[in-house]
Amino acid sequence: MSYWSHEYLLRNWGGPMVQAEFLKEAQRPFFVPRIFSGLNLFLDKAGLLPDAVDLVAKECKTKKAFIVTDDYAVRFAPKVMSPYEKRHGIKFEIWDKARPDAPIDTVMECARKMREFGPDLIFAIGGGSSMDTAKGAWLLYEHPEANIEILSPLMPLNLRNKARLVAIPTTSGTGSEVSGVAVISFPDGVKLGVGGALPEFVPDFALLDPTLTVGMPPQLTAGTGGDALAHAVDGFMAPRADELNQAIALKAIKMVFEWLPRAYQNGHDLMPRIKMQQAAMMAGMPLSNAGSGISHALGHTIGGLFHIHHGAMVLLFLPYELQVYSKATDRYLEICDALGVREQSSSVQSLANLIAKIRGLMSELNLPLGLKDAGVSRHDFDKKIDFILDQTPTDPAFYFGWFDLNREQLMDVFLCAYEGKLLDMKSEIWR
Ligand SMILES: [Fe+2]
Repeated sequence: MSYWSHEYLLRNWGGPMVQAEFLKEAQRPFFVPRIFSGLNLFLDKAGLLPDAVDLVAKECKTKKAFIVTDDYAVRFAPKVMSPYEKRHGIKFEIWDKARPDAPIDTVMECARKMREFGPDLIFAIGGGSSMDTAKGAWLLYEHPEANIEILSPLMPLNLRNKARLVAIPTTSGTGSEVSGVAVISFPDGVKLGVGGALPEFVPDFALLDPTLTVGMPPQLTAGTGGDALAHAVDGFMAPRADELNQAIALKAIKMVFEWLPRAYQNGHDLMPRIKMQQAAMMAGMPLSNAGSGISHALGHTIGGLFHIHHGAMVLLFLPYELQVYSKATDRYLEICDALGVREQSSSVQSLANLIAKIRGLMSELNLPLGLKDAGVSRHDFDKKIDFILDQTPTDPAFYFGWFDLNREQLMDVFLCAYEGKLLDMKSEIWR
């Protein structure tokens, strides 16, 4: 199968163009949905002033809305639907078959159901997979002939002729509720980010009710929170990140360190849930507007192949990303400052402190430091290593980074990551 991200010109020219200093000031758009956060987003009774329900319902002229969700988050559908049914007479159809990693066949199935029902409002309720499934299905609902795998960032998606999208996250990590990207997986193990020329996949509304994240199992809290941290660091470190993106990313990084351990320890404590929901949403903004990082490229490849939780995987690769990027930029020092781990006399020591802080958090959350601890057998790893080394450089998160790693460097990262050892940046490979 051929994918847009494998395109020779994009890989060889797109990456350097994004990194080029002189292009950074050319245009700096910043796209976000209209965001509502709080405990009273789904009130059955209208208040004195118009609220989120009124604003969202205004977009539903046909009075038909479609819910994309999964077999877990479907439990929240009645709460979401109730005010729209009672106050605005909107009729809903629920499709609850979203699956982890948003496989393309489920996206197509969802789009078929959407076409039969003909909504002009789509509610995505769930984690990243439900929201990404909804985005992909929305595209195929509006353009049944579209081939998702070849939609490069140079092509417009031309959405919003039939429907608008409302994202309601029930986990805190993916950032899909504010991002302009849908990550869809394909039968050969490829996980592909699709976004189009303008970030049309940015939902029209993001509704953040922290009570929907209460009671998440600890390992899901840890994994999704790890994803949020990786988004914030990736977005902060991305070559294209400007002050706006960096400010949001830095705050999100601090919030994750402050609140994720508490959210992990007690899934019913509301304050950490509120803070992590905000942090994850904020981290999604620089990810979407400034760019991703190699933690995501490496994590996508391994996570897609061995079906390991996305957040756990990208967080595992985050220390390696910081080590690799330290060859090109000392921007990580600002993260050290924010977290109080900077060693004024030594940037090398500061980086080591930052990585130790991240790995300390991973240990606290019982997340794997190495691939062998994540359940990847050495036999499978060795068998797939050629595919891994071929696939990773085709991920846009890889070639839109600071520089391209050669095959030997990439191999070194994967071998160290297998054992959970850090890179030796003094070795020949990294000179
Ligand atoms: Fe992610």
